[in-house]
Amino acid sequence: MKNILIIGSLGQLGSEIATACRLRYGSSHVVLTDIRDDVNRPLIEGGPFYKVDARDGNAIDGIVKKHHIDTIYHLAALLSATAEKNPLLAWDLNMNGLIATLEVARANGCSVFTPSSIGAFGPTTPKQFTPQDTIQRPTSIYGVTKVAGELLCDYYHHKYDVDTRGVRYPGIISNMTPPGGGTTDYAVEIYYEAVKNKRYTCFLRGDTYLDMIYMPDAVEAAIQIMEADPSRLRHRNAFNVASMSFCPEEQAAYIRTHIPEFTISYEIDPVKQAIADSWPDCLEDYAARVEWDWNPTFDLASMTEDMIKTIIGRNA
Ligand code: SER
Repeated sequence: MKNILIIGSLGQLGSEIATACRLRYGSSHVVLTDIRDDVNRPLIEGGPFYKVDARDGNAIDGIVKKHHIDTIYHLAALLSATAEKNPLLAWDLNMNGLIATLEVARANGCSVFTPSSIGAFGPTTPKQFTPQDTIQRPTSIYGVTKVAGELLCDYYHHKYDVDTRGVRYPGIISNMTPPGGGTTDYAVEIYYEAVKNKRYTCFLRGDTYLDMIYMPDAVEAAIQIMEADPSRLRHRNAFNVASMSFCPEEQAAYIRTHIPEFTISYEIDPVKQAIADSWPDCLEDYAARVEWDWNPTFDLASMTEDMIKTIIGRNA
């Protein structure tokens, strides 16, 4: 039986991986931590929870020992737009949080999942069908921490035989916990505004293509790679996982098939636009498909239908 620790469990990705893991492995086998404890009471009260700073390796080590943890999902990080406002904090949290987890994993024999991102690429990376192994010279501090994180996870595997695994997520679209401080957040906000006000003012240009993924596929990727047969993994960390690629104009067109009055306008945020322009338009994810059978289920049409139905249902 797996005993899982999820660090950063109340965030956009953490809250849904935590919910899925509790269903799959049983609540008492899934221990949660977060730096806050003032949101999502059902998750906090639904099983073991600790309020812990992700950089506090001693506290995490104590929890791992107490609960006989064998698998850690390390999900505490500052996203790209927030990181750009506070680069030192981004470096501190994203790097010192990760190395604290890796050290605990090394000492206790745990496997570790770490999410990387399309942010690990930069303006000199091939933009179309970005390969798994390619140029990575990101220009955002978020991207710098993501590349360093990928390399650090590889290092802990080669040097200490820690079972590190991970994927490069596109922008994640979800309807349970809102994202915070990401460049791809527009693609989530647009659905809420479409249902509520039938219009949305987008902070990226209408023709900005980026990779996106719907949360059920993002959760499945995390669980599936941690359950994958290690002998098949040639890459361990930072698998590209593509799912869909679109620009705000296209997303608006799909929303109009459900809400015909919907309109989109633009007020460009130069910092977020520069970050988005430095990222790929669409990833190629052959390695994930071959090495652990990655096969996403949602596209822009089915995700749009599901998002709008869910948001309307919740408001009813
Ligand atoms: N969604 C993230 C961001 O925009 C990318 O990994 O920062």
